[in-house]
Amino acid sequence: MTGNHFSGKTVLVTGASSGLGEAVALAFAGQGANVFAVGRNIAALESLALRVADIEGTVFVCSADLQKASSCRSVVAGCIEQFSGLDVLVNVAGKHAVSHTADVSEAQWQEDLGINLSAPFFLSQAAIPHLLKSNGNIVNVASIAGLQGQPYSAAYCAAKHGLLGLTRSLALEFINTCLRVNAVCPGGMDTPQVNNMQFPEGIDFGLMMRTAGLRGMMQVADVAEVILFLASEQAHVIHGAVIPVDMGKTTG
Ligand SMILES: NC(=O)c1ccc[n+]([C@@H]2O[C@H](COP(=O)([O-])OP(=O)(O)OC[C@H]3O[C@@H](n4cnc5c(N)ncnc54)[C@H](O)[C@@H]3O)[C@@H](O)[C@H]2O)c1
Repeated sequence: MTGNHFSGKTVLVTGASSGLGEAVALAFAGQGANVFAVGRNIAALESLALRVADIEGTVFVCSADLQKASSCRSVVAGCIEQFSGLDVLVNVAGKHAVSHTADVSEAQWQEDLGINLSAPFFLSQAAIPHLLKSNGNIVNVASIAGLQGQPYSAAYCAAKHGLLGLTRSLALEFINTCLRVNAVCPGGMDTPQVNNMQFPEGIDFGLMMRTAGLRGMMQVADVAEVILFLASEQAHVIHGAVIPVDMGKTTG
């Protein structure tokens, strides 16, 4: 998108210290937004803030572990304190651990559901009163793992399927308001999450490769553009949508 579509708007982005979240934060800042950038790696967030200093918007960095509902509430409260309102919540933070189902501990299951599903719920719960005041919107970053099964990824798949259910449920609950809630389902992107993925012994790589895109990996900046469009006024008719952004991976 070209132009200054988010000038004066406040956008809360989670997972902003790397990968897609960083690209989303930079893209909103490039459109003049006040970006409340949440992540766990403060050095990476500070480097993001330095890069934003050269472009249109402003960025305020916030270090938080979003595993707890109380952290999610504090993050939203911090954003409101900093920028006096909220126009867009983009739930990007997530984690994909590849494991044999037999090896998934209760703690790992809870952690995968915590960041991929519970955090978007509790952030949305805290953000919605503010988004209702600003005619704002939420964009959830799910995955093609929310649309189809992926081997050795039961918790991740369950959480991303759940995130699509959350998106649709909120879209209906708030159908009589101006709030919009949408989700994108990216295919493979060239990010630290993918590049540092650990594969346990004994997995069937043939099965794993079924999840690879036929047109290769996407760049995060291109996926960020789709998110910007969805969050913009130009997408005011898009509500409750689940949009694959996967270069055709889930077409069949
Ligand atoms: N990379 C891909 O191929 C791909 C494909 C589909 C969907 N996605 C989704 O895109 C999103 C971004 O992933 P990415 O590929 O950029 O990976 P990434 O590892 O670069 O980014 C994930 C971010 O989430 C943050 N995060 C993880 N756990 C957290 C916690 N407990 N509290 C706070 N922050 C936490 C990390 O710090 C990191 O900044 C994720 O939701 C992921 O599931 C990625």
